[in-house]
Amino acid sequence: MTDTLTLRTPDDWHLHLRDGAMLRAVTPETARHFARAIIMPNLVPPVVTAADAAAYRDRIMAALPEGARFQPLMTLYLTEQTDPEDLARAHESGLITAVKLYPAGATTNSASGVRDFDKVRPVLERMAEIGCPLCVHGEVTDSDIDIFDREAVFIDRVLDPIRKATPGLRVVMEHITTMQGVEYASDGGPDLGATITTHHLVINRNHILAGGIKPHYYCLPVAKREEHRLALRRAATSGDPTFFLGTDSAPHTDANKLQPCGCAGCFTAPNTLSILAHVFEEEGALDRLEAFTSLNGPRFYRLPVNEDRITLTKGAPVSYAERIVTEDGPVTLFDPGFPLLWQVQT
Ligand code: NCD
Ligand code: ZN
Repeated sequence: MTDTLTLRTPDDWHLHLRDGAMLRAVTPETARHFARAIIMPNLVPPVVTAADAAAYRDRIMAALPEGARFQPLMTLYLTEQTDPEDLARAHESGLITAVKLYPAGATTNSASGVRDFDKVRPVLERMAEIGCPLCVHGEVTDSDIDIFDREAVFIDRVLDPIRKATPGLRVVMEHITTMQGVEYASDGGPDLGATITTHHLVINRNHILAGGIKPHYYCLPVAKREEHRLALRRAATSGDPTFFLGTDSAPHTDANKLQPCGCAGCFTAPNTLSILAHVFEEEGALDRLEAFTSLNGPRFYRLPVNEDRITLTKGAPVSYAERIVTEDGPVTLFDPGFPLLWQVQT
């Protein structure tokens, strides 16, 4: 029986670090286990210009514990006013790694997102020219589309037309949650990648809604039926280079989660690797965990793989604190609902 696993240090290709007190509290949690992360720009106000991204990067660096070697990979929040030249310079200089597309209203702090996709066509064309990836929150927001269908409808109505209209645009389908997402990504060729979160490998919609509502399992895109969770597990554990880890660790204070209109987001940064090792072992795919956490992402983003290694060992159940303390209030960790036996050695 395998009880030790050594991996190239993982990267997180979709992460929310927030700002202020929350940033200071959660950044060390990711820096402990990950070498790099794609940093989501949905702050209030959002990170829209190169100057915003440079200032945010400095705040992240200041929140790192001494000696940490974590590298934030910055993104710009695409708006209908984004200046293609500002974006191109920021990419060329290495300040930003990607650009994030939120359909307006799709999720937390997405009000400045895109309403009319024709308005961003010149920016997307420029991105295709310079090879800057577009990270896509793939859900339509039309009120007449059922929330469980929003990803599948987005692929047909928005994503596929954008990709056909913009040849060469490199796209990451972020936090896919459906078998339609898996299929579209698998067939998309080398310019299309997809991230999968930790929590979508663990929960389906019953976990949120059956036997009482569980706000800590509510995130966007919302978890779907079991058949979709199983499709995601097959994709993540397949070794297919299209699929890589983006935790979408999205901390909110308990006060903001536990209220009549609670925020979407699961906080998974501290225990993600323990959970993933459990999932990959259940699928008989421990030998493919490194591809998912540490190889496929850099390959898509055309970055070198990390040279450092981390080791996980399997033993007695690991106890994680139920919540972390921040100056804004407590933030509850994602509870996978099973004992975690794998632990990252420090
Ligand atoms: C994210 C957040 O809280 O910023 N929430 C979430 O449920 N994942 C936004 C997002 O990535 O959609
Ligand atoms: Zn997110």
